[in-house]
Amino acid sequence: MGRAGELCRVSDPTLAASPVNWPVELRSDTFTLPTPVMLRAMSTAELGDDVYGEDPTVRMLEELSAEVLGKGAGCFMPTGTMANLASILTHCPRGSKVIVGEDSDIYVYEAGGASVCGGVVYHPVPNRPDGTIDLAAVAAAFPADEDDPQFALPALLCLENPQNHSGSHVLPLSYLASVAEFAAEKGLPVHLDGARVFNAALAIGVPPAEIARHADSVQFCLSKGLGAPVGSMVVGTEAFVAGVRRVRKLLGGGMRQSGVLAAAGIVALRERDRLAEDHATARRLADALAAVPGIEVEPAEPRTNMVFFHATGAGLTNAELVARAAVGGVAIAELGGRIRAVTHQGVSIADVDYAVEVIRQARADASGENTEPTRSTHASRGTALAR
Ligand SMILES: Cc1ncc(COP(=O)(O)O)c(C=O)c1O
Repeated sequence: MGRAGELCRVSDPTLAASPVNWPVELRSDTFTLPTPVMLRAMSTAELGDDVYGEDPTVRMLEELSAEVLGKGAGCFMPTGTMANLASILTHCPRGSKVIVGEDSDIYVYEAGGASVCGGVVYHPVPNRPDGTIDLAAVAAAFPADEDDPQFALPALLCLENPQNHSGSHVLPLSYLASVAEFAAEKGLPVHLDGARVFNAALAIGVPPAEIARHADSVQFCLSKGLGAPVGSMVVGTEAFVAGVRRVRKLLGGGMRQSGVLAAAGIVALRERDRLAEDHATARRLADALAAVPGIEVEPAEPRTNMVFFHATGAGLTNAELVARAAVGGVAIAELGGRIRAVTHQGVSIADVDYAVEVIRQARADASGENTEPTRSTHASRGTALAR
């Protein structure tokens, strides 16, 4: 299976945030369910037709997003994928190039939309282990003679922060500043895929606008760590966002009474300080996993809400550990040759402690240390480990 997130189960919304009806869901922060506060806001939202620009709740979310990211305007989008695509198509004329990290979501997981829908050529460049892109590789995307009509010309550079695939690495502010300076010299706009930009900002202790100011446009997801059920935002200048709005319609993303969704997004944005809890549970998970013999946790400083680890020293493959954890009611997933565990509002301290215990037992079972293999089930979790 590819990126975690495809197997979301639908539940009765009254079970939202219930600690007892679910296995410990660590595959992705896309699994969050709307909180009771969100559900209340959704059911009482003031609505209108947003294609006419007349949904007051969407407008409020767009203004709030622009303000928080320090940009002129915002546009509510159905998904992060469409938010990235509409941004690329707004920046890039047909026949131009978009420079992307070869480990980026835009390049790997978004179905080649810029080429398919916009006639834009992807120019992938390596992501270094810390998630950054070497500016020399970006410079090499430009032809020696830009007037030579043989060559497609770069029209956009995309960064991802945190860079998910490389290990949820947060790009340093000094690096972002050097990219912005280089891009300005080249006349190259920068788009930031900030699906989890609030996690990045929290991890380095700055307001999100400090990150956003180094990019011309930013997309961020409401439906990941922020916990809303649906939606992403694009922010940028007013003129740019007007272009994005047109492309959103072209792509079929013009929604009508979408204030019912935006209402949850407003709650998510206002309550974003809660992300600190996810970072604390991720750190607790990382520290405890590191103490399990044979489990190797990838270092990450600063850490966000993600923990990447390997089972290789534990006498079983990553896939085997994922399968054994599932039997114990702990959902983790392989991503890029390692295992990823993601904390979010549906994961408590008791949940991560339970997950570590399940993984510890799975490792002991595999190594033959347990003469009676553990048969933990979702049902036994509550009693056996007193969550
Ligand atoms: C870094 C990043 N960008 C963009 C997306 C796409 O968001 P969506 O699933 O809302 O299309 C994801 C989704 O996981 C992501 O991780």
